[in-house]
Order: sequence, then C-alpha cells, then structure tokens
Amino acid sequence: MKEYTFAKPETDEDFEALYKVMDVAFGDEDVRSITRRFVEHHPDMNREHIFMVKQEDRAVAGLLLIPQVWRLGEVKLKVAEMGCVGTDPEHRRKGVQWILNDEFDKYAIEQGFDLCVLAGIPYFYRQFGYQYAVELDYSTEINLGKIPDNETEIRVEDFTEEHIEKADIFLRRAQEGYLVHSVRTEDIWEMQQKTGTYGGEPFKAVSLHLSGEFVGYYRYVVDKEKRTLYIKELGVDENVSVGDLTGVIKKHASKMGLTELKTGLPHQDEVNKYLISLGAKTNKPYTWQVKILDLTNFLTKLIPVLEHRIEDSEFKSVSKDLTMNFWKFAVSMKIEEGKIVSIEKVHGEKDRTIGLNPYAFIKLALGYKSRVELEEMYSDFWVRGELGGLIDVMFPKQPGYIHYCY
Ligand SMILES: CC(C)(COP(=O)(O)OP(=O)(O)OC[C@H]1O[C@@H](n2cnc3c(N)ncnc32)[C@H](O)[C@@H]1OP(=O)(O)O)[C@@H](O)C(=O)NCCC(=O)NCCS
Repeated sequence: MKEYTFAKPETDEDFEALYKVMDVAFGDEDVRSITRRFVEHHPDMNREHIFMVKQEDRAVAGLLLIPQVWRLGEVKLKVAEMGCVGTDPEHRRKGVQWILNDEFDKYAIEQGFDLCVLAGIPYFYRQFGYQYAVELDYSTEINLGKIPDNETEIRVEDFTEEHIEKADIFLRRAQEGYLVHSVRTEDIWEMQQKTGTYGGEPFKAVSLHLSGEFVGYYRYVVDKEKRTLYIKELGVDENVSVGDLTGVIKKHASKMGLTELKTGLPHQDEVNKYLISLGAKTNKPYTWQVKILDLTNFLTKLIPVLEHRIEDSEFKSVSKDLTMNFWKFAVSMKIEEGKIVSIEKVHGEKDRTIGLNPYAFIKLALGYKSRVELEEMYSDFWVRGELGGLIDVMFPKQPGYIHYCY
C-alpha cells in the first residue's frame, strides 16, 4: 500500500486540497466554509495550525489547531482546540487520524500548550487520551407565551463594532462564577463581528440601550421553521433586571413573528434560571473533551489557584508533603504554611494514599466532578486517610462554561 505522510499546507493548491478533504469528509455540512474562515480570518492562525495527511500528492485527511486561552480561576491556560477533523471516506479506518493526533500533540507540547480540547463526536477521541471534563451545548426552551410581558424603556438596536469594548465587560461579567471559562481577545471579537460567525456558525447580534446607555447585547439566530429565537450568547449590565430583559427579548421575537425562545446559556445563568422557573425545558448538556499535556507542569501552573483555595479554608496554614500517585508516575507536592514550595514528578513511588487515575483526574482538576463522585466512579481513584478534606479544598467541583473564541 502507498504510504501516508504528514504535511502542512504550503501552496494555494494545498489549501484547496484541504478544503476538498472537508467536502468529502463532511458531505452536506459546510465544513469547507468553517475551515476557510479560520485560514482567512483568524488573527492567530497560520499554516502551522493546519495538519494534513497525504498519500503521494493527494490530501486524504486533515484537522485544525485553534489556539485560545482559557482561565481556571485566576490562572490562564494555553489551549489547543482540535477542530474540523475529517478523513476522506476512501481512506478511513487506516489509522490516518493517529498520524494527525501524534503530530498535533507534538506541536502542542513544543509550543507550550497546557490543554488540548475538542467538542467532537462521542467516544472516538478517548483513544487519544481525551476525557469529558467541561459542560458544553446547553439548551433551554420555552414558549414565548409563558414569559410575562414587561413594558420597559430598553431599546433594541443593531450591534456594531463600537459596542465591542463594553460588550466585553458584560461578557466577563457573564463568565464570573464559571471556574473554567474562555478569554476572548479584541481581535477575536472583531473577527466574529466581521465574519458574522460564532463558534463556526452564523449569528446576528443586537445591542440594548437604556436612557442613552449601552446596557447589554445578545447574539442569536432565527430558526424560521421552528419559529424560534435562539440566543447563543448574552451579556448585560448588572442593573438590568431579568424580567425587563426577558420582556425585551419576547417583544423582539414576537415582532419577527416567532413563538418560541431557546437559549444556549448555561442552566446556572440568571436569565436561564428565570426561564426554568417559568417552565422552560432543559437538556442534559454534552461535554468538552480535554487532555492535560503534562500533569506536573499543569499542577505547577495551578499553584496560585491552589494556594488561594488553601488560604480560604480550614487548612489555611497547613504543612504537608502530598504524594499524588498517578500510577505510572507520581507528583510530590510540598506544602509549607499553606504555600506550595515544590512540585516534582517522581517514578517508582510506593505511597498509594492518594491514588489518582490520571484520566479521571482531568475531571477533578477542571471542577467537573468532585473527589467523592470520582471515587464512586473509578476503582483506581481514591484518597485514603485524612487527606480527602484537603484534596476537596484544592479541587472543588464548580461548573465551567466556554464562550466560543472563534
Ligand atoms: C471520525 C473520522 C475522522 C475517523 O477517521 P479515520 O481516518 O477513519 O480514523 P483512524 O483510521 O485514524 O481511526 C483511528 C481508530 O479509531 C477507530 N475509529 C474510526 N472511526 C471511528 C468512530 N467513528 N468511532 C469510534 N472509533 C472509530 C478506528 O477503527 C481506529 O481504531 P484502531 O486504531 O484500533 O484500528 C472519520 O470517520 C470522518 O472523517 N468522519 C466524518 C467527519 C467527522 O465526524 N469528524 C469528526 C468530527 S468531531
């Protein structure tokens, strides 16, 4: 059989070949346009972020690395999202995605990324070390008739580039309370506005005004068939009441002849909680798949967050040598008077008081599951003796939510 080789695109023909792979891999879904948008408009992406497999001169598979920044508490993490993963049907089940995944990880390690993440198909990516770890794809649906009418002075206008600076403040307010969340740069705001796409899909946006002040925005799409206004993102000033906001949204939707409201906001969001209290139906969200590239580096990066958590707890001035046994290796962490003074990777560790399946640990580290939940789920995950309380303080369960950064 002819050999498969790894490549990054060099010429216009290579890029066209990549788009063709997306066409044949995804059929009716227009992944060509999504891929093109990354290539042509993403401020931080270039040919380095495009991974292809060729057989002789023919491109047969591809994927993209979409760089972004996520925050876990106050710590910024460099994140490599894998997107637009596709193989030409004639070349499937031959291991070409293994070639791409190996190269993806190699590049991500070289470039100092902390996490690889993706929002992809079920199960497939487990073989590459990914674990479900941050909530994704919420949906809440309600008939507009269930939302009270509310006469307010809030006016709805187009969202323009001028609104971006303040909208970013509203976005950051919406992100408070989510342990893991994204950081959207001004360039990305501008790219989304210019291309009219959010997370690879088209959107429209409105700005909200009260007494001449810009007080909020939302991004939406209209599903004409289902007569639904679908809100994908929403950010408002703290003085805008939920009742006024939903009243305005209802009016806006009704004017367009729509009868239903759907949101993609997290279920914990204030507006969503209100809609749920009015009888909205909610889904069980899907989940981001996450891989931590180097656990020791990752824990080292997390030191400020871990120290704050210790500081705010009953373990305030604890001194302890923790051995986190990840089975293939261990991480020994020295805590003196509440400060983490060293983190080291060690091999051949015999101490198994804290035994952590490293895959399950991803869920703990990102606040997706609690230590106790993971102990129940995995027989190779435990914290014995009296250390459970300290581990719970260092790694609490807390929801995450990612506002798209492309
Ligand atoms: C999913 C897809 C990318 C897999 O590509 P592929 O080139 O066939 O993958 P590989 O041959 O490298 O497969 C690697 C392994 O996964 C297995 N595998 C392939 N497709 C799978 C699937 N859909 N689910 C689970 N396992 C799968 C293979 O058998 C192989 O296992 P092995 O190493 O034990 O033999 C390809 O089917 C595709 O392009 N699908 C349509 C687009 C799509 O859904 N992309 C994913 C978007 S998130």
